[in-house]
Amino acid sequence: MLFVCGFSPFFKVFYGISPFAFQFRQLNIFLSASLLAFTAVVTLFRWLTFEWFPKGEAVMLFSLAALLLYSSVKPSCHILFPGLICVLLYTFWRIQVRGPKPRKLLELQDQVFVITGCNSGIGVETARSIADRGAHVIMACRTRKTADPVARDIIASTGNSRVEVVELDLGSFASVRKFTEEIHKRFESIDGVISNAGVMKLGYTETVDRLETMMQVNCVSVYLLLMGLIPLLCKSKIPGGPRITLVGSNMHKRACLEQGGFDFENNFSAKGEDVFSMVRFYGQSKLGLELLKKELVRRLELKGINIQVNSLNPGTIVSNISRDFPSFLNKFHWLIQPINKTAKTGSYTTVHVAASQEVEGITGGWFEHCTNLKQALPVYDTDDAAKLWALLETKTNMVL
Ligand SMILES: NC(=O)c1ccc[n+]([C@@H]2O[C@H](COP(=O)([O-])OP(=O)(O)OC[C@H]3O[C@@H](n4cnc5c(N)ncnc54)[C@H](OP(=O)(O)O)[C@@H]3O)[C@@H](O)[C@H]2O)c1
Repeated sequence: MLFVCGFSPFFKVFYGISPFAFQFRQLNIFLSASLLAFTAVVTLFRWLTFEWFPKGEAVMLFSLAALLLYSSVKPSCHILFPGLICVLLYTFWRIQVRGPKPRKLLELQDQVFVITGCNSGIGVETARSIADRGAHVIMACRTRKTADPVARDIIASTGNSRVEVVELDLGSFASVRKFTEEIHKRFESIDGVISNAGVMKLGYTETVDRLETMMQVNCVSVYLLLMGLIPLLCKSKIPGGPRITLVGSNMHKRACLEQGGFDFENNFSAKGEDVFSMVRFYGQSKLGLELLKKELVRRLELKGINIQVNSLNPGTIVSNISRDFPSFLNKFHWLIQPINKTAKTGSYTTVHVAASQEVEGITGGWFEHCTNLKQALPVYDTDDAAKLWALLETKTNMVL
């Protein structure tokens, strides 16, 4: 359709005034106006999700869309129309859907990586890329039933047979402890931890440890897991030092900017149910993860431990993260798919942070689109990080 309409000027040139000429021109204008509106929707979407959109990229997209509209109105510019449509769609795909690829990836042959939640979504592609670089990958997943087939698929596609599943349920402190005990028994050291697992709950639910589910899975259990694994990371012998990579979310910025920071009053108490909303608690749990990172970086530096700790936003990806949503909403995934990343392109920033030479020596960073944007983050209350850390110590009975 686009093709036919775009080439309508050629019909004119070769066949004289086509009886459809008027309709083609109207269609061209309609298409250009739609693409301009589409560009505006994408920009709005990124703005609403607090996603970084470099000004240069926005200017480029809008200029292209405006030029397209102009060329559809001006008969003398009709010839540009098909080319402009292609350039706009390609630019849009490069910026919004694909994003920058991870750069200068290290060889990971002698390294052991723990990756959580990699039986689904972004985690699968992250594990595949890390396995592809040669690492021994421990897939820390909730159940073998869903993780084993993924492990087999990764082994088949990468040819790396050192990919295995060890069960880990972040919704249970007992499971996290059992997991770390097993890793201690089997490995002398590990070189990387990618905390990717995450959950979004539409309603208020509690774990077996009586904490709100998102807060425990996305934050508290991550603390417990890291405290269990840091002794093994300390024994890593890789030259640049081991890395902890935390998959966060831009939603934490909302918690910071709109909810006045970390909500100590409600996040850990049954009272939270009264103020519960998915957006609020998800954002709070990811803000907790950011504060955890901040304090961890400070404490590691104080102790002179060389572990790089960075966090990131993977972008917006249509994935199973919305599994808890009403099924009719999940049926409309195809509607937002064109303005979202795929699981593969959504894994790019995680892989970049976990394995790029460019990230060597960086700690405490916040990455989006494979770029360190730490400076662009909202300013947190510095005392909150220490206060949360103390709470995490008490809740999990575990210290660094
Ligand atoms: N999708 C997005 O647009 C987006 C945006 C920003 C940030 N993120 C973050 O990206 C990460 C990956 O999300 P995704 O989009 O790939 O979603 P996903 O497909 O739902 O993957 C989430 C993974 O976390 C695991 N998980 C959930 N609860 C767990 C628990 N209690 N114990 C252990 N593992 C658990 C899931 O395992 P099961 O299959 O067993 O449940 C799954 O493997 C999450 O941290 C998410 O918050 C996603």
